[in-house]
Amino acid sequence: MNSLVQKAQELNPWAQNPWFETVAIAQQRAKRRLPASVYGALIAGAEAGVSRDDNTAAFNELGLRTVTAGQSAKREMATTVMDQPASMPIVISPTGVQAVHPDGEVAVARAAAARGIPMGLSSFSSKPMDQVFEANPQSFFQIYWAGDKDSMVARMERAKAAGAVGMILTLDWSFSHGRDWGSPAIPQSIDLKTALAHAPEVALRPKWLADWVRSGALPDLGVPNFVTDPSSPVPGFFEAYGTWMGTPPPTWDDVAWLRNRWDGAFMVKGIHRADEARRAVDAGATAISVSNHGGNNVDGAVAPIRVLGEIAAEVGAEIDVLMDGGIRRGSDVVKAVALGAKAVLIGRAYLWGLAANGQAGVENVLDILRGGIDATLMGMGKASIDELSPDDLVIPQGFSPT
Ligand SMILES: Cc1cc2nc3c(=O)[nH]c(=O)nc-3n(C[C@H](O)[C@H](O)[C@H](O)COP(=O)(O)O)c2cc1C
Repeated sequence: MNSLVQKAQELNPWAQNPWFETVAIAQQRAKRRLPASVYGALIAGAEAGVSRDDNTAAFNELGLRTVTAGQSAKREMATTVMDQPASMPIVISPTGVQAVHPDGEVAVARAAAARGIPMGLSSFSSKPMDQVFEANPQSFFQIYWAGDKDSMVARMERAKAAGAVGMILTLDWSFSHGRDWGSPAIPQSIDLKTALAHAPEVALRPKWLADWVRSGALPDLGVPNFVTDPSSPVPGFFEAYGTWMGTPPPTWDDVAWLRNRWDGAFMVKGIHRADEARRAVDAGATAISVSNHGGNNVDGAVAPIRVLGEIAAEVGAEIDVLMDGGIRRGSDVVKAVALGAKAVLIGRAYLWGLAANGQAGVENVLDILRGGIDATLMGMGKASIDELSPDDLVIPQGFSPT
């Protein structure tokens, strides 16, 4: 088997040069490298994928007002997000990256730290939080409204003790599970029976398998950060998901209650409406992310970039307004900042980089985005992201809901 893996690597033209020049190429490599079910879980998109597709398509509707001469020789893109310095207006969005790469969120955290940006760590992540926070001390922990109130507070306290410097409460998930293309089956754990069931698709992806063989482990699909005590047994994905699904959703008073039990920066992720952005501010949030969960949840939920402007106008002067969904290029980041975002969160872009080339692949994605922001600022004659405003964009009629 090992010589087969080696042969496949020799024949692979990318084995010589794993660098890629756009996020789209990282996606193509992730597709070629990952077993079909793992790649399928990354691209996801609920039902017909209307929201997922519009998240990216909406960016393409926005034009940039560029200049021809008089550009600035230097461009500034550093900012501060949730009290953390960021070398560019980008934050790693929390995702469960089970099975994508053996180094998982630790590789992502190292890449983010190397490029000077903060990281959001999902409560459904595969690596224990202390390993991730050690790799990137500028990390925020993400929780869902799951379990009883005591366990939620205990989870936040565990994160605080482990070094989390901010909290992200994701609230937009409504347990929509159907996908028109058929959801990949997620095994409860990888035992011999599951391994055999997945053997045909895994055999077609020798490099992915080789990474895991080298790491000395197989993906186990446990969620170590869901428990309140790190020494407790690690629950499986479905056990944790069942707890979350069985928890009645919170009121805004509940949100305020939880926020008051966290001392520091606190984001509510998953806002689509200006009136709810206001409720989040009233509940004490110091940041929001305008988000539809990457189009993975209610299909038809509006693309965040379409409503960012009205939400930033409502609360942008009081808290950090971020957005996520569909960021694939540096120019997307510039468009979001022009419409009022302090920064953006990225999801699939870094997951594809991770799949394509581990930590270096995530760094590669961040470098692409940085280069794209810089080139776009230069093309628009801007010396800093602080100079951007909606007037720098060509916004077609009907772009945003009235
Ligand atoms: C595979 C996958 C897993 C995700 N898991 C989480 C999660 O555990 N918590 C969370 O708040 N958001 C999660 N998200 C949503 C992302 O944080 C983010 O909102 C979304 O990916 C942004 O869209 P983009 O992928 O187009 O950048 C997940 C997204 C993907 C693609």
